[in-house]
Amino acid sequence: MTRGRFITFEGIDGAGKSTQIDRLQALLVERGIEVVRTREPGGTPLAEKIRALLLADDMCTMSETLLFFAARAEHIARVIEPALARGAWVLSDRFTDATYAYQVGGKAFDGAAVEALERMVQGQLNPDRTVLFDIEPLVAAERLAKARAADRFERESVDFFRRVREAYLDRARRNPERFFIVDAAQSPEDVSRALLTEAQGWL
Ligand SMILES: Nc1ncnc2c1ncn2[C@@H]1O[C@H](COP(=O)(O)OP(=O)(O)O)[C@@H](O)[C@H]1O
Ligand SMILES: [Mg+2]
Repeated sequence: MTRGRFITFEGIDGAGKSTQIDRLQALLVERGIEVVRTREPGGTPLAEKIRALLLADDMCTMSETLLFFAARAEHIARVIEPALARGAWVLSDRFTDATYAYQVGGKAFDGAAVEALERMVQGQLNPDRTVLFDIEPLVAAERLAKARAADRFERESVDFFRRVREAYLDRARRNPERFFIVDAAQSPEDVSRALLTEAQGWL
C-alpha cells in the first residue's frame, strides 16, 4: 500500500481555511481517494478536550505550547499515522506551523524549545504539502465578526495577527518546496480555483 499524503492548511482565523478544505475534500473524494479530514488542536476525543481548554481558559504560553503538543501527540498516534499507513490522504486544518506562527511569532515563545518538542513529538513526520491562506488581518477580522463569536485566540489584537501572519510567511519562505501560498483576500471562487489547480499537481 502506498502511503497517503499529509496536507496541512494554515493561516490566521477568518482566512477561509475551513471553507476551502471542504472544496478540496470533495475534489479528492471524486477522484476515489480516501480522505481523513481533521483539525488542530483536536482530531481525537482526548485532543478535542484539550482544544476546549486551549480555546477557553487563560494560561501561560508555556502550558499552552505543551498542551498543543500533547494534543498533537494523540492526533498523530491515533489518527494521522494510521490513516497515512493505509493510504488515506490526511487534510488537517492547522498543524505545527501554527505553533511557530502563534506561540513563537505571536507570543515570542522560544523557537528552539518548539523545535525540540517538534522533534520529540513528530520524529520524521512532516506535512507533504502546506497551503498558507495569506490575508491582511483586518480583512479576516471583518469576516469573523460576521461569522461567529471569538474564542481566546480570535480575541487577540490586530498587531498580534500581523506578527502571526509574518511568522507564517517566514516559514513559507524557508520551506518553499512544501508551502503553497494563496491570496486569501480573493473571492471564495478565486481562492478555490487557485487551490484546486495546485492540488491537481499533487495527484
Ligand atoms: N474568500 C472569502 N471571501 C469572503 N468571505 C469568506 C471567504 N472565505 C470564507 N469566508 C467567510 O469568512 C468566514 C471565515 O471563514 P472560515 O472558512 O471559517 O475561515 P477559517 O477556517 O480560516 O477561520 C466564514 O463566514 C466564511 O463564510
Ligand atoms: Mg476554520
